[in-house]
Parts: sequence; C-alpha cells; structure tokens
Amino acid sequence: MKSIKNTVISGKKVLIRVDFNVPIDEHQNIVDDTRIQAVLPTLKYALDHNAILIIASHMGRPRGKVVPELSLAPVARRLARRLDKEVIMATDCIGTDVEKIVSKMNAGDILLLENLRFYPEEQNNDDEFAKKLAKLCDVYVNDAFAVSHRFHASVVAITKYAPLSVAGFLLQKELNYFEKAMAEPKRPLVAIIGGLKVSSKLGALENMLNHVDKIIIGGAMANTFLKSTGCNIGKSKVEEKLVDVAGAIIKKAAKNGIKLYLPVDAKVASQFDSKADVKVVPVQEIPAEWMALDIGPATSLLYSEVLQDAKTIIWNGPMGVFEMDAFSRGTIDMANKVAESYAMTIVGGGDTDVVLHRTGISDMITYISTGGGAFLTLLEGKSLPAVIALNNI
Ligand code: 3PG
Repeated sequence: MKSIKNTVISGKKVLIRVDFNVPIDEHQNIVDDTRIQAVLPTLKYALDHNAILIIASHMGRPRGKVVPELSLAPVARRLARRLDKEVIMATDCIGTDVEKIVSKMNAGDILLLENLRFYPEEQNNDDEFAKKLAKLCDVYVNDAFAVSHRFHASVVAITKYAPLSVAGFLLQKELNYFEKAMAEPKRPLVAIIGGLKVSSKLGALENMLNHVDKIIIGGAMANTFLKSTGCNIGKSKVEEKLVDVAGAIIKKAAKNGIKLYLPVDAKVASQFDSKADVKVVPVQEIPAEWMALDIGPATSLLYSEVLQDAKTIIWNGPMGVFEMDAFSRGTIDMANKVAESYAMTIVGGGDTDVVLHRTGISDMITYISTGGGAFLTLLEGKSLPAVIALNNI
C-alpha cells in the first residue's frame, strides 16, 4: 500500500476521502469531532506540501437522496476552525459546478465536497460515479478507515480511475496498531467483548478463539452465554437461537486453552427504565420477572483481576446499558481498569469510544480506533475492501 508520505503532491489536486460521519444534534451542532481531529495530520501534511485539497466524506445514511440535515456544512465550519483556514463548502460532490470550483483552486486551498451518500451510486460502488470523483484529482488519498469495510465507490471503485491512489496517515495508523495487537501481540492478550448481541459479534468471537489468551464477555450478549450454562436469567435480553452457539464457543475456548470469563453477578432492574427498581444479585439468582442491565461489582472486581497480567488488551462493546446512569457503572469501571493497565490497550467500536471520551480518560489508552464496523471487521479476521483495493493497484 503506497503512502501519501512517499508521493509527490506539491501543486497537485489531492482528493482526500475521510470519514466525517460525526454525531450532530438537532441544532446542527457537532457533538464530538474526534473523527475530524483524527485526520488533521494528513490534511496538514498535504497543506504543508502545497497540495490543492479536495476533501470528500459521507454523513449518516441519507439513502441516496439529498437530506439537508445531513449536509456536511457544519463540518466545513468546524474544520475551518481546526485548521485555522478557510474551507470552501461545495453544494455537490461531482459535476460541472464542482469541476469549475476545482479548476480555480490554488495550492493551499481547501474544498469540502457535499455528502457523497446523497447519490445512491456511492453505496452501489458505481463505476461512473467513481470516475466522476476521480476526474477531480491527480492523487487520491484514502484516510477513511471507519468506512473502509464498505464496498463503496469513494473507497473501492475510485482506486481504478484515480491517476494515483495512496493511503493517508490515519488509515495506516489504524491498520498498524491492529496488526501489532493481533499479529504479534505481547501476551497475555485479553479480548473484552461486550455489547447487545452475540449475533453481531459472532465472527469476532470465533476469530478471537484463534488469537487470544483470555476473553471477557459483558453486555447483554453475556445473557445468551449465561443461559447456555443453564443459568436462569429472568426477563433479560437473550438471543434464543444462539444459546447453543454460545455454549459451543465456551467449549471451543476450553478446548483451545483460552480462559473465558462470564459475569458472576448483575445489576438487575424490574423494567427497562432508568427509574425502575434496581438491585445487585448473583447471576444464579436473577428473579424471574427482572432483567440484567449491567455487570455487578463482583464481576467488575473479577474482570479487573483478569486484566492484571495482561500485556495486550483489545476492547469492543460496553458492559451494560451505559446510556442510563443507573447501568453505566460496569462500563465505567472497565474503562478505568483498561486505562490504568500497563498493557498496550486498543479500543474500538462506536459505543466504547463514547464511554472513554465521556470519562475523560482517552489519553490513557494506547489507541482508540475511529472505526465501529471497520474495527469489528478486522476483529473478525477479515480484510477491508478499501484496503484490498488500495493494495491491488
Ligand atoms: C461509521 O460511523 O461506522 C462509518 O461512518 C460507516 O457508516 P455506515 O455504517 O453508515 O456505513
């Protein structure tokens, strides 16, 4: 994979695909601009090397239609502030108007194209659309790790038509850290897998069984595992169809000599409501009408002991319903334990990074991925289509 670092970009039109899919509130304010900050090294490098910057991104899921609330205009304003430079906001991402603007740009100018997903062709990996995008540039740079698991035109098909396609610093950094953690980890390597569903983490769990020394399970998906061990989990969320699969994962872990840890106690509630009655019980004593919404204090303690000798930790997914204060303790405790650890710590997945930023301990984590689905795809042991495309040219 070629890097922007070894590419002549001075005076060239450089199209940089980034992932500016940032959370925006109802007043069009950006709630968290981590993804904007994450690509500043690439953007600044291109500016320092006198490139003409054309930046492309998607925002949300407009399903191929123009949805004004999903315009990238608020991002252009934030980016201008972060770079302390004017950012021209285009009204489209392809076509003659955009081409006209680009033809008048000078080195050091910055143009942000409008949301790529306003065209259905983007998500269809359409060749004609990719050609139109590629026509805007001399050099194409993929720095959009978080969307590199998608077969989309601006990250896959475009590499066939751009005169030169290279990787940006963020994409390289994400892949390097992941490689370090999974391919040649310092051991013990511990995976912490949480979140709602076993189904969405099944591929990752199965792949982990070939790599890690220990697996910690948390979140609602732990209920399915607990049920497979014969535990009565009351009204807790469970994926009935996957109970046997969870049981098979436990068996396979034992066979492979991997230590797999499940919660030993839970914070249970009478209803799925922040104001519901709450108590802590051993997992064997979850009342029939109650549901587990967080791991309990004994589990937090157990998990912190499991992490004690870890040299590498990979974490994806919360330990409970962290969005509700009453059920956020387990995830916050886990965040603190991971942050305090001497291990190399890699955290990925939308929800998990939200917790870290909220607890203000992000600086104590070795690497927080900007990717949700892309990070999970790597955890599953799969290659990212956009990276394959870059490697194939
Ligand atoms: C993300 O937020 O995970 C990326 O921007 C990809 O978005 P998508 O899941 O809508 O493709």
